[in-house]
Amino acid sequence: MLSLSHFKIAQVASLFALLFLSSIFDLSHATSLSRRATVCNGYAQLCTQGYGNVTYVGAHDSYAVGSTSQLGANQDQSVTQQLEDGIRMLQMQAHVQNGQIYLCHTLCTIYNGGPLQTYLTTVKSWLASNPNEVVTLLIVNSENLPASQYDAVFKAVGLDAVSYVPSTTPVQASSWPTLGSMIDSGKRLVTFLDNGADPTVPYLLDEFTNIWETAFDVTNPTFDCNVNRTKGDTNTQMYLINHFLDTTLLGQFVPNVPQLNVTNAATGAGSLGAQVATCVAQNTRPPNFMLVDYYEFGAGSVFQVAASLNGVAYKPSSPIAIPSATAATGTSNAASPKIGLPVFAGEQVGALLIVMLSILVGAFSAL
Ligand SMILES: *[C@@H]1O[C@H](CO)[C@@H](O)[C@H](O)[C@H]1NC(C)=O
Ligand SMILES: *[C@@H]1O[C@H](CO)[C@@H](O)[C@H](O)[C@H]1NC(C)=O
Ligand SMILES: *[C@@H]1O[C@H](CO)[C@@H](O)[C@H](O)[C@H]1NC(C)=O
Repeated sequence: MLSLSHFKIAQVASLFALLFLSSIFDLSHATSLSRRATVCNGYAQLCTQGYGNVTYVGAHDSYAVGSTSQLGANQDQSVTQQLEDGIRMLQMQAHVQNGQIYLCHTLCTIYNGGPLQTYLTTVKSWLASNPNEVVTLLIVNSENLPASQYDAVFKAVGLDAVSYVPSTTPVQASSWPTLGSMIDSGKRLVTFLDNGADPTVPYLLDEFTNIWETAFDVTNPTFDCNVNRTKGDTNTQMYLINHFLDTTLLGQFVPNVPQLNVTNAATGAGSLGAQVATCVAQNTRPPNFMLVDYYEFGAGSVFQVAASLNGVAYKPSSPIAIPSATAATGTSNAASPKIGLPVFAGEQVGALLIVMLSILVGAFSAL
């Protein structure tokens, strides 16, 4: 008898515990429904700005991380560090390897950044721990894969659930929702495909009907702001500037490493600030996306340019990454910028030979 009544008490107690827990759950649920972000992409002022009225710094070939002398690399900080430092557009080039989507630069034998799924998992975990941030992905669909193949990867990672879907497309720069409302709704990832977008996967948006771009593979530091690629109305579209300076090596485009601090600077001839000034003069509004190489060269200058266009003061909560080439341990890398062209270590020679072979067979297309 005694043990039975104890059993009943225990049952009643656990029932109450369950009710209590579920009421807490309901409360937190209600709180999340009425959530109002007070800081958006780092600034309170940006919460009321339209997504298409804001300027973002983008990492060109964000997955192509290596030293400044590594063939195929365009960044030297991890994707997580890029996001931590303020990169809000991640550009990437997709290729197929063993039936899977990989992020490679031109060819997977030149630079292989691993499976798209691994990369997106990193992005997802950063988004999860940074709930007040809106991030944009720009995927160069090099092999013209159908959107459904990307959809499968996004779904496997769970990024479809946080992806923004516009009610109609294309979306004019002035018609995007505010960053605050995107954050509040939990739909704070915007993804563009340069080709292959298709209404059956409505969160994978077509780049060129929504965005126009300036020229890429620029080797003249006087970056212009002319329309290079579009499939829409450049007067109303968002736009992207390809602000990475290249040089040619064996006829191929590689980052102009010695000029990085000048190219990424906020002011001066050849700087990001100078191209932006050209753009504002020509288009009466600043670019939405500014793609750069090795973004941390310039010690935050690229973010200063964005902040000033957004009417906020650039105040990083912690110092941004130090270029790995000038870090205390990077002695071999530190030497290469002085030479004027990337220096190839032994292991890069093989890759370089493959590039040369690829040129011969016409398989190499630069971007
Ligand atoms: C974005 O800018 C345009 C043009 O100035 C304006 O019409 C639109 O209302 C702005 N969007 C937001 C959400 O402020
Ligand atoms: C766009 O840029 C590429 C690379 O810089 C160049 O080859 C091409 O001629 C440009 N096209 C237009 C229409 O400006
Ligand atoms: C770029 O770096 C060089 C070499 O360290 C330096 O002399 C130059 O002043 C720097 N330029 C800018 C714009 O920071």
